[in-house]
Amino acid sequence: MALNSGHSLVEKFFFVRQWARHPLQFGAILPSSSTLCAALAQYVPTDEYVVELGAGTGNLTRALLDQGVPPERLIAVEIDEKCCALLRKKFPHLTVIQGDARHLCSLLPPDIVGHVGTIVSCLPFLNFSPSVRRAIVQACTHVLVSVGQIFLLTYSPISPIPSKAYGFSKKCLKFVFSNVPPASIWRYQLDPS
Ligand SMILES: C[S@@+](CC[C@H](N)C(=O)[O-])C[C@H]1O[C@@H](n2cnc3c(N)ncnc32)[C@H](O)[C@@H]1O
Repeated sequence: MALNSGHSLVEKFFFVRQWARHPLQFGAILPSSSTLCAALAQYVPTDEYVVELGAGTGNLTRALLDQGVPPERLIAVEIDEKCCALLRKKFPHLTVIQGDARHLCSLLPPDIVGHVGTIVSCLPFLNFSPSVRRAIVQACTHVLVSVGQIFLLTYSPISPIPSKAYGFSKKCLKFVFSNVPPASIWRYQLDPS
Protein backbone atom coordinates (compact mmCIF):
# COMPACT_ATOMS: atom_id res chain seq x y z
CA MET A 1 0.00 0.00 0.00
CA ALA A 2 1.37 3.43 -0.95
CA LEU A 3 1.54 5.58 2.17
CA ASN A 4 -1.10 8.31 1.86
CA SER A 5 -1.06 8.45 -1.94
CA GLY A 6 -2.02 11.61 -3.82
CA HIS A 7 1.22 13.54 -3.54
CA SER A 8 4.36 13.20 -5.64
CA LEU A 9 7.43 11.86 -3.85
CA VAL A 10 8.94 15.36 -3.99
CA GLU A 11 5.91 16.80 -2.18
CA LYS A 12 5.94 14.02 0.42
CA PHE A 13 9.62 14.72 1.05
CA PHE A 14 8.85 18.45 1.29
CA PHE A 15 6.06 17.72 3.83
CA VAL A 16 8.27 15.42 5.94
CA ARG A 17 11.00 18.09 5.95
CA GLN A 18 8.57 20.79 7.11
CA TRP A 19 7.19 18.40 9.74
CA ALA A 20 10.75 17.75 11.01
CA ARG A 21 11.26 21.51 11.35
CA HIS A 22 7.90 22.20 13.04
CA PRO A 23 6.50 18.88 14.32
CA LEU A 24 3.82 20.34 16.58
CA GLN A 25 2.63 22.78 13.95
CA PHE A 26 2.35 20.08 11.27
CA GLY A 27 0.96 17.38 13.53
CA ALA A 28 1.35 14.62 10.93
CA ILE A 29 4.45 13.19 9.32
CA LEU A 30 2.62 12.69 6.02
CA PRO A 31 0.02 14.69 4.12
CA SER A 32 -3.55 13.36 4.28
CA SER A 33 -4.32 10.60 1.79
CA SER A 34 -6.40 11.19 -1.34
CA THR A 35 -8.98 8.77 0.07
CA LEU A 36 -9.37 10.81 3.26
CA CYS A 37 -9.47 14.12 1.36
CA ALA A 38 -12.08 12.83 -1.12
CA ALA A 39 -14.16 11.43 1.76
CA LEU A 40 -14.25 14.88 3.37
CA ALA A 41 -14.69 16.87 0.14
CA GLN A 42 -17.91 15.02 -0.74
CA TYR A 43 -19.68 16.72 2.20
CA VAL A 44 -18.65 20.24 1.21
CA PRO A 45 -21.22 22.40 -0.64
CA THR A 46 -20.05 23.95 -3.91
CA ASP A 47 -22.25 27.06 -3.88
CA GLU A 48 -20.85 29.06 -0.96
CA TYR A 49 -17.58 30.44 0.41
CA VAL A 50 -15.32 27.70 1.73
CA VAL A 51 -12.26 28.40 3.89
CA GLU A 52 -9.63 25.72 4.32
CA LEU A 53 -7.47 25.99 7.45
CA GLY A 54 -4.02 24.38 7.42
CA ALA A 55 -3.89 23.68 3.69
CA GLY A 56 -0.32 22.32 3.89
CA THR A 57 0.77 20.97 0.52
CA GLY A 58 -2.74 21.08 -0.92
CA ASN A 59 -4.04 17.52 -1.03
CA LEU A 60 -7.40 18.50 0.47
CA THR A 61 -7.39 21.71 -1.60
CA ARG A 62 -7.14 19.57 -4.73
CA ALA A 63 -9.99 17.31 -3.55
CA LEU A 64 -12.22 20.34 -2.84
CA LEU A 65 -11.57 21.75 -6.32
CA ASP A 66 -12.18 18.32 -7.88
CA GLN A 67 -15.44 18.13 -5.95
CA GLY A 68 -16.55 21.33 -7.71
CA VAL A 69 -15.84 24.08 -5.19
CA PRO A 70 -15.08 27.04 -7.51
CA PRO A 71 -11.53 28.42 -7.00
CA GLU A 72 -12.93 31.95 -6.59
CA ARG A 73 -14.98 30.72 -3.59
CA LEU A 74 -12.21 28.74 -1.93
CA ILE A 75 -9.70 30.45 0.37
CA ALA A 76 -6.72 28.55 1.75
CA VAL A 77 -5.19 29.71 5.04
CA GLU A 78 -1.82 28.32 6.01
CA ILE A 79 0.73 29.49 8.58
CA ASP A 80 3.83 28.04 6.93
CA GLU A 81 5.51 30.35 4.42
CA LYS A 82 7.02 27.55 2.32
CA CYS A 83 3.68 25.70 2.09
CA CYS A 84 2.02 28.95 0.99
CA ALA A 85 4.59 29.37 -1.79
CA LEU A 86 3.93 25.80 -2.93
CA LEU A 87 0.15 26.26 -2.79
CA ARG A 88 0.37 29.46 -4.89
CA LYS A 89 2.46 27.62 -7.47
CA LYS A 90 0.08 24.63 -7.59
CA PHE A 91 -3.15 26.64 -7.55
CA PRO A 92 -2.47 29.98 -9.24
CA HIS A 93 -6.19 30.93 -9.32
CA LEU A 94 -6.73 30.34 -5.63
CA THR A 95 -6.56 32.89 -2.79
CA VAL A 96 -3.83 31.64 -0.45
CA ILE A 97 -3.44 33.60 2.78
CA GLN A 98 -0.42 33.14 5.00
CA GLY A 99 -1.37 33.54 8.65
CA ASP A 100 -2.49 32.04 11.92
CA ALA A 101 -6.04 30.64 11.98
CA ARG A 102 -6.53 32.38 15.34
CA HIS A 103 -6.58 35.67 13.41
CA LEU A 104 -9.01 34.51 10.75
CA CYS A 105 -11.27 37.57 11.15
CA SER A 106 -8.49 39.95 10.15
CA LEU A 107 -6.91 37.61 7.60
CA LEU A 108 -10.00 37.20 5.41
CA PRO A 109 -11.17 39.96 3.06
CA PRO A 110 -13.68 42.06 5.11
CA ASP A 111 -16.55 41.43 2.65
CA ILE A 112 -16.28 37.68 3.28
CA VAL A 113 -16.32 37.85 7.09
CA GLY A 114 -19.75 36.63 8.20
CA HIS A 115 -20.46 35.07 4.79
CA VAL A 116 -18.43 31.87 4.95
CA GLY A 117 -20.68 28.82 4.65
CA THR A 118 -18.14 26.12 5.40
CA ILE A 119 -14.75 25.90 7.09
CA VAL A 120 -12.64 22.83 6.51
CA SER A 121 -9.84 22.25 8.98
CA CYS A 122 -6.77 20.04 8.89
CA LEU A 123 -5.24 21.90 11.82
CA PRO A 124 -3.50 19.67 14.40
CA PHE A 125 -5.93 20.60 17.20
CA LEU A 126 -4.56 17.86 19.45
CA ASN A 127 -1.27 19.74 19.65
CA PHE A 128 -2.85 23.06 20.60
CA SER A 129 -3.46 24.32 24.12
CA PRO A 130 -7.11 24.74 25.18
CA SER A 131 -6.78 28.53 24.83
CA VAL A 132 -5.49 28.25 21.24
CA ARG A 133 -8.30 25.81 20.37
CA ARG A 134 -10.83 28.22 21.82
CA ALA A 135 -9.35 31.20 19.96
CA ILE A 136 -9.54 29.33 16.64
CA VAL A 137 -13.12 28.13 17.17
CA GLN A 138 -14.13 31.63 18.23
CA ALA A 139 -12.56 33.12 15.09
CA CYS A 140 -14.43 30.53 13.01
CA THR A 141 -17.78 31.45 14.54
CA HIS A 142 -17.15 35.12 13.66
CA VAL A 143 -16.55 34.48 9.97
CA LEU A 144 -19.29 31.88 9.45
CA VAL A 145 -22.87 32.59 8.38
CA SER A 146 -25.46 31.90 11.07
CA VAL A 147 -26.04 28.34 9.83
CA GLY A 148 -22.40 27.73 8.97
CA GLN A 149 -20.48 24.53 9.54
CA ILE A 150 -16.96 23.29 10.20
CA PHE A 151 -15.55 20.00 8.95
CA LEU A 152 -12.55 18.73 10.78
CA LEU A 153 -9.98 16.03 10.08
CA THR A 154 -8.46 14.59 13.22
CA TYR A 155 -6.57 11.57 14.53
CA SER A 156 -8.50 11.76 17.77
CA PRO A 157 -11.35 9.31 18.38
CA ILE A 158 -13.11 12.02 20.40
CA SER A 159 -14.09 15.54 19.39
CA PRO A 160 -10.95 17.72 19.62
CA ILE A 161 -12.74 21.05 19.88
CA PRO A 162 -15.21 22.52 22.33
CA SER A 163 -18.52 22.62 20.49
CA LYS A 164 -21.43 23.18 22.89
CA ALA A 165 -19.97 26.39 24.32
CA TYR A 166 -20.01 27.91 20.84
CA GLY A 167 -23.44 26.71 19.80
CA PHE A 168 -22.32 23.86 17.56
CA SER A 169 -23.92 20.47 17.33
CA LYS A 170 -21.32 17.86 16.45
CA LYS A 171 -21.27 14.56 14.63
CA CYS A 172 -18.52 12.12 13.69
CA LEU A 173 -19.22 11.37 10.03
CA LYS A 174 -16.59 8.85 9.10
CA PHE A 175 -13.42 6.94 10.05
CA VAL A 176 -10.86 6.44 7.33
CA PHE A 177 -8.70 3.55 8.48
CA SER A 178 -6.54 3.48 5.35
CA ASN A 179 -5.03 6.89 6.14
CA VAL A 180 -1.69 6.86 7.98
CA PRO A 181 -2.50 7.40 10.80
CA PRO A 182 -6.23 6.49 10.70
CA ALA A 183 -8.34 9.64 10.82
CA SER A 184 -11.90 10.69 11.45
CA ILE A 185 -14.08 13.39 9.91
CA TRP A 186 -16.21 15.53 12.21
CA ARG A 187 -18.93 17.99 11.37
CA TYR A 188 -19.85 20.95 13.60
CA GLN A 189 -23.06 22.71 12.65
CA LEU A 190 -23.96 26.14 14.05
CA ASP A 191 -27.41 26.27 15.55
CA PRO A 192 -28.97 29.57 14.41
CA SER A 193 -31.29 29.82 17.45
C1 LIG B 1 -1.61 17.96 9.35
S1 LIG B 1 -1.06 19.31 8.31
C2 LIG B 1 -2.34 19.20 7.10
C3 LIG B 1 -1.88 19.53 5.72
C4 LIG B 1 -2.86 19.18 4.60
N1 LIG B 1 -4.08 19.92 4.67
C5 LIG B 1 -3.18 17.71 4.61
O1 LIG B 1 -4.28 17.33 4.97
O2 LIG B 1 -2.29 16.95 4.26
C6 LIG B 1 -1.52 20.71 9.28
C7 LIG B 1 -1.24 22.05 8.60
O3 LIG B 1 -1.77 23.08 9.44
C8 LIG B 1 -0.86 24.18 9.41
N2 LIG B 1 -1.08 24.98 10.64
C9 LIG B 1 -0.76 24.63 11.91
N3 LIG B 1 -1.15 25.58 12.78
C10 LIG B 1 -1.75 26.55 12.04
C11 LIG B 1 -2.38 27.77 12.37
N4 LIG B 1 -2.46 28.20 13.65
N5 LIG B 1 -2.92 28.51 11.38
C12 LIG B 1 -2.85 28.10 10.09
N6 LIG B 1 -2.25 26.94 9.70
C13 LIG B 1 -1.70 26.17 10.66
C14 LIG B 1 0.50 23.51 9.35
O4 LIG B 1 1.51 24.40 8.91
C15 LIG B 1 0.24 22.34 8.40
O5 LIG B 1 0.46 22.71 7.06
